Amino acid sequence: MSRNPEVRIESLSALRPVEGGTQAILLRNQKFSVEVSVLAEDLFRLRIVRDATFSDKPSWAVVNQEWPETPVAREFSRSSVTLSTQLASFQWGLKDASWQLVDAHGLTVFSSAKATTGYLDHQPRLALDLIEDESLHGLGETVGPFNRRGSVRDFWNIDVLGHAPAIHPGLRSLYVSIPFGISLRHGRAAAVFWDNPARQIWDLGQSRQDRWQLSAASGEIDVYLFVGPLVSSIVSRYTQLTGRMPLPPVWGLGYHQCRYSYESAQEVLEIARQLRRRKLPCDAIYLDIHHLDGHRVFTFGKNFPEPGAMIRRLKKQGFQVVAIVDPGVKDDPKFGVLKRGLAGDVFVKDAGGVSDYIGEVWPGPSRFPDFLNVSVRDWWGAEQSVLTKLGIQGIWNDMNEPANFGRPDKTLPPDAIHRTDAGSVSHEHVHNVYGMEMARASREGMLRNGNGRPFVITRAGYAGIQRYALVWTGDNSSSWEHLNDSVQMLLNLSLSGVAYCGADVGGFLDNCTPELFVRWLQLGVFTPFFRNHSNTGTNRQEPWALGERVEAISQTFLNLRYQLMPYLYSLMAEAHRSGTPVMRSMLWHYQNDPVAAALGDQFLIGPDLLVAPMLQPGCVARVVYLPNDVWYDFWTGERLIGGRHVVAEAPLDVIPLYVRAGALLPFDVPRQSTRQRAGDTVVLNYWPGVSGHLDWYEDDGETNYYAAGVFCRRRITSRVRGRTLRLHFAPTEGSYTSRVKTWRIIIWHAGRPAKLKIDGRPASGTHDVDQKVFLAEIANSPQEISIEFSGV
Ligand code: GLC
Repeated sequence: MSRNPEVRIESLSALRPVEGGTQAILLRNQKFSVEVSVLAEDLFRLRIVRDATFSDKPSWAVVNQEWPETPVAREFSRSSVTLSTQLASFQWGLKDASWQLVDAHGLTVFSSAKATTGYLDHQPRLALDLIEDESLHGLGETVGPFNRRGSVRDFWNIDVLGHAPAIHPGLRSLYVSIPFGISLRHGRAAAVFWDNPARQIWDLGQSRQDRWQLSAASGEIDVYLFVGPLVSSIVSRYTQLTGRMPLPPVWGLGYHQCRYSYESAQEVLEIARQLRRRKLPCDAIYLDIHHLDGHRVFTFGKNFPEPGAMIRRLKKQGFQVVAIVDPGVKDDPKFGVLKRGLAGDVFVKDAGGVSDYIGEVWPGPSRFPDFLNVSVRDWWGAEQSVLTKLGIQGIWNDMNEPANFGRPDKTLPPDAIHRTDAGSVSHEHVHNVYGMEMARASREGMLRNGNGRPFVITRAGYAGIQRYALVWTGDNSSSWEHLNDSVQMLLNLSLSGVAYCGADVGGFLDNCTPELFVRWLQLGVFTPFFRNHSNTGTNRQEPWALGERVEAISQTFLNLRYQLMPYLYSLMAEAHRSGTPVMRSMLWHYQNDPVAAALGDQFLIGPDLLVAPMLQPGCVARVVYLPNDVWYDFWTGERLIGGRHVVAEAPLDVIPLYVRAGALLPFDVPRQSTRQRAGDTVVLNYWPGVSGHLDWYEDDGETNYYAAGVFCRRRITSRVRGRTLRLHFAPTEGSYTSRVKTWRIIIWHAGRPAKLKIDGRPASGTHDVDQKVFLAEIANSPQEISIEFSGV
């Protein structure tokens, strides 16, 4: 694509305003139509087509919804047209097709120079000006630094082995394409989402430092502009636009054990036995492709003679089973799935549109279901019920970019034909949605088959993937580069609507060292999806395979994961409700602090727990930046004033963790799996500080009744005035009866014995002078509870 697009871009000048309604401005000339519209006071949409009309094809990414009308002003002059809300104005220059979005304070949010927005050789493109010190984030799956400025992202889903820059220095494409970028200018955030599933190349200030150049190989300009200024308000809007994640079953937050592959039922059962015998908590075991009969999807090979019995035995021990499901259907005329697929004419066609396209994946020659069609998705869901009827609880969608070994570009031919719900279209125009629509087929199939709350994991996706599946970041390797990279990848994915995400813990390719494994597992405790996975032919990577010391440390950290479960689950509920990620880059809470905002090697879990993973070999200390708040060292209890860097000591059995003063972190007792009852006492750890809160959430953890209000949610707030600490439990919301009978409140850093009052009545607690801890047990009730500790 041209480095100097201004030279040949087709002219958008001499546009004339035509009708447009109250929320939009519509412009036309002989070749183009431009529409600027307002969806919300902080969300604008810019569409430009080479046509007199806009297509009404539904978007794959954007969920159907009515946007309530918001006050909008329209102004027309000889040189420009302007559309304004209370928060921002979009101005289009009629003479030169330059445009800008300016906020209510007059600050430029985005500007596009003359003749940089439009079509070049029928390819849509636009360029945004970048200013000094502007950083760029989100962009879905990314490799390399957290700030993507200076790089190029090629949004084209591909299967790539070992994606760290150390292995693939020039890598621009990954499995997931989310063309959504957040810009941060001196603490002020704004964002762009270009809804177009064809190939898009975003030059993020690489060829020109002062330009963010966006182009697509085909399709239209259909760009959403998010005014901000808060990163949190942008992600909330973006997930309103593209949908929010449903709640996963609670077991989805446990530790998961995977390998390519556990090759027989005996081996799977032995892994389960070892996990329980060694008291390593775990909720799920995965079946990779060796469980299949000759790589035929939805089957079991001879090493799994009675899968139902195996699954039942595992269930009794508290394990769920997740099976891999790849899209390629083996081209074997005797294979039932193929026969039924042929009968239903469900497969992607070749360029002629008549014969099925045949590619090559694990099963050899294979056909590809056309997931872009609703009846094919329904068919797939019905086929999938073979697995769920056997008791399989989770579906793992892999190779769904889709991967194709039969071509140099490793995917379907650009001219293969999809027969979508909105008509036929060639693959190149919709490539990036294939994997997402497969995940959709899996999820909807599970829902239709009455399997409760679906658990679907996917490798490929497009904007909106969070509605259907969690994303894992594919084939990394057991290297420190990949450990490093995974943090930044997960932070950017989390900013792109995908709150439920994780990387292969320990690394997939190559052999993991004991030290790397420990550091990765310690990080995994704090990633929303937590799965250990390793490649065939590598050394075993179960926690006990790396020596006794590793096993002992692993046990401590797996226990910590299960202790944190109520906090993590409450955060997942928040992600479901508002799109707020669980794993939050520092900029989420500290976007006005440039030191914090730039960090990609430490992060927050929820608002209060700061995690600084150890990412270098041989290191027993690292620098951590504590933003301007008061913090406590989670391990030592030391109170630290933020707004500075500190050195954290971290021998192999420690990951640096800090808790924000005012925080309330609920802890369960450790369990071997979430199938064991959580108990009716919850420890509420409280670190005194000016203020804080916890949005407690619980439900049955497995059905979909939560969507109808069967949950228990309440806000618990903390406040300190002088030497008096107050905790306030708001009345519960929702119709689920809490499991909690007793709150065991632990006040850390309590210098002296306190007088305790519950709802105004004196009560007693105990004070441990040496540990500086005050402990009190409080009976739970769904009504308001007020607790006061004075004299602490
Ligand atoms: C792909 C997946 C990997 C899986 C393997 C075999 O490489 O990314 O996780 O183990 O295929 O199915």
